[in-house]
Amino acid sequence: MTTISTIDKLREHLGDTVTLQGWVHQSRASGKVAFILVRDGTGLCQCVMEKSDQTAGFFDETRRLAQESALEVTGVVVADARAPGGFELQVTNVCVVHAARDYPITPKPHGIEFLMKLRHLWFRSQRQWHILRIRATVVDEIRRYFNDHDYVLIDTPIFAPAAGEGSQTLFKVDYFGEPVYLAQTGQLYVEAACMAHRKVYCFGPTFRAEKSKTRRHLTEFWMVEPEIAYASLGDVIDAAEDFVCSVVQRVLRDHRPQLIELGRNVEELERIQKPFHRITYTRAAEMLRSPQAKALLEQDLVAKQERLAELDRRIEKLEAVAKGDGKQWDKDVAAAEAIEAREERAEVQEQIRNIPHHLELAAGFEWGSDLGGSDETIISRLHDKPVFVTHYPKHAKAFYMREDRADERVVENFDLLAPQGFGEIIGGSAREEELGRLLARIRHDHLPEDDYEWYLDLRRYGSVPHGGFGLGVERTLCWLCGLKHIREAIPFARMMGKIYP
Ligand code: 4AD
Repeated sequence: MTTISTIDKLREHLGDTVTLQGWVHQSRASGKVAFILVRDGTGLCQCVMEKSDQTAGFFDETRRLAQESALEVTGVVVADARAPGGFELQVTNVCVVHAARDYPITPKPHGIEFLMKLRHLWFRSQRQWHILRIRATVVDEIRRYFNDHDYVLIDTPIFAPAAGEGSQTLFKVDYFGEPVYLAQTGQLYVEAACMAHRKVYCFGPTFRAEKSKTRRHLTEFWMVEPEIAYASLGDVIDAAEDFVCSVVQRVLRDHRPQLIELGRNVEELERIQKPFHRITYTRAAEMLRSPQAKALLEQDLVAKQERLAELDRRIEKLEAVAKGDGKQWDKDVAAAEAIEAREERAEVQEQIRNIPHHLELAAGFEWGSDLGGSDETIISRLHDKPVFVTHYPKHAKAFYMREDRADERVVENFDLLAPQGFGEIIGGSAREEELGRLLARIRHDHLPEDDYEWYLDLRRYGSVPHGGFGLGVERTLCWLCGLKHIREAIPFARMMGKIYP
């Protein structure tokens, strides 16, 4: 009996004979030697198989195994610095578990639409494997951080009778004949719980009927929401800052090689240290109207136009190769690369069309409106560290946010914008603790007062200053991994027009 090992544990078996259970990632053979790159879910290992009497029974069959065939491969573990993972297996036996044929995701590039349709298989690709591993670490660090800092986990309901955020993004479901909604947030419930446990958090999926297909919006996303009793806006901001630093540190500690492989600039992440920038909304509005914002977008326009010209030239070349009379493999690769380049061209064209509009929005930004996605991008690109934008106009924000007693036009809230244009990853606030003011806001926003009766009780019985925030896991992962689109940051993305697989 040989020992079954996983690839990540090969170090412990140097010189031993072990069996790996995995799938063919890639393979190549030259004459009497075959190199099979096996993945087993924990890593990649090159398995070297030489044709000999010992391997004669399985050499030919194994050599011909197609990508993603499942196999058990036995061999001696040897160290090889050049091999992926640092170890190789010198094969002594192979057992084919399942011979796959025509796996649709080949080593050639593929368009994103195609890959999204094959999400259930796309998981197996290296890039996606890294992203979801990092996601698992982010989720683990979120739990660890709050558990270690004396927050009590409170699970909040998914069926909610009323809106927690804007009523335009509610998903209505039938609840025994009554209309209820899928939770947009657990906040109102953790507000109740913090009066019992002081520091609490909820962590789970939340739902928003976002009718736009942007690169930042999902209809189902994961959010962690801590809530603290006897806390001021400053206390909540300090907590958010400390928490974000610990998530970044953990990901850098555990995933530096993966981040580099994903093309992430890790030095940028290393700069994420306290203190972050803090500016008011009013200052942010001034920045949007400033010459720096204008210059930034104008430079962008030039850069995008250059990129477009480059892509046009590249697509023309690739199309010529694809239609030419070269080798079939080269033609296929060129055709696949052309699909990718055309997708990028469509994105760049859209960005070029949008820039004049974004310029106009920024230059004409009026105090009182909420910051839009493009405004956030500008502010976040003008900073090298995350920036807290605080004190937004009251009427652009949710009813529960605490009115600033020194300036009642604004609320004591904040958004945390990740740097380099990644935009908002956290929204939070101090909560209105005075019954009268809260009721006035509910009435002003024409919210159904009865549905909030229980919530108003929190202001009737021992109401204290309190506050909290919500961090979106997928937005955070986009920033940490440098992903352009949020669909790669969740195992099975749900977006407008996307529910399968
Ligand atoms: O700013 P939001 O809407 O805040 C709340 O829901 C508060 N109740 C949180 C609180 O104070 N307890 O959302 C918080 C975060 C955003 O910063 C973003 O990271 C994420 O949730 N988010 C989304 N992520 C993906 N797709 C969407 N449609 C998102 N909407 C919000």
